[in-house]
Amino acid sequence: MSTQKDFKKITTKALQVCKEQKIKISALTAYDFITAKILDKAGIDIILVGDSLSNVFLGNDTTLPVTMDEMIYHTKAVAKGVERAMIVVDMPFMSYQTNPDEAFRNAGRIMKETPAGAVKMEGGIRIAETVRKITEAGIPVMGHIGLLPQSIHSYGSYEARGKDPSEAKIITEDALALEQAGAFAIVIEKTPAKLAKSISAKLKVPLIGIGAGAYCDGQILVTPDMLGLNVDFRPRFVRYYSNLAEEIESAVKKYISDVKSGKFPTEKESY
Ligand code: KIV
Repeated sequence: MSTQKDFKKITTKALQVCKEQKIKISALTAYDFITAKILDKAGIDIILVGDSLSNVFLGNDTTLPVTMDEMIYHTKAVAKGVERAMIVVDMPFMSYQTNPDEAFRNAGRIMKETPAGAVKMEGGIRIAETVRKITEAGIPVMGHIGLLPQSIHSYGSYEARGKDPSEAKIITEDALALEQAGAFAIVIEKTPAKLAKSISAKLKVPLIGIGAGAYCDGQILVTPDMLGLNVDFRPRFVRYYSNLAEEIESAVKKYISDVKSGKFPTEKESY
């Protein structure tokens, strides 16, 4: 079986091969050049410039305030560090919900002003017409179903979606509508693993999970969460692969102490 190393550059076609050959897809978020460069060097398949930028980079409570200009600014920085991964950019709140024409213009702006490979947007049946218009123009679209953080004010909480059969049916129909409209992949957020499993089995395109269990065709996490940087946010689907907040704090304390005591810099570190 091939591994991620077989793909020199991740394209929509490569992701389709992954789905067909049951090769799991790895995805993480990035918002800056240095992080993107490290993720790409490590071999990540997809780098999402997520609108989680609003929370974890800009310090907002929700994803709603982030703008088109901010998404484009951060994508340009991310792209400078990436050679292999596919860069996907979240379309921010109100950049695609109003009507398909405005969505089309904004998706076109992202593709024209950055080297991104695709855009992502939240919703299912209600955005299917928009997805069709954008994909027909040659812009790859990744869908996003299940918990939709841009709809937080209508949910009232970030609890898992699709636990009852009627909502599970709607989420399934949303997935199928996105695939029919031309989406090349779909993110599913915070749903029961059983639901994600059944949706993945129905789809020809990859289903990438976050808090949606092990049966998806790939997994995505928010990088500052999985690196243990964003310590105030720890839902059970986040696994810590590092404790960077602790490591950074301890490094900074050491630096402060060395500066105060005159241990830094030494002669070797001077000109
Ligand atoms: O914005 C983001 O980081 C996302 C992931 C949670 C999938 O959409």
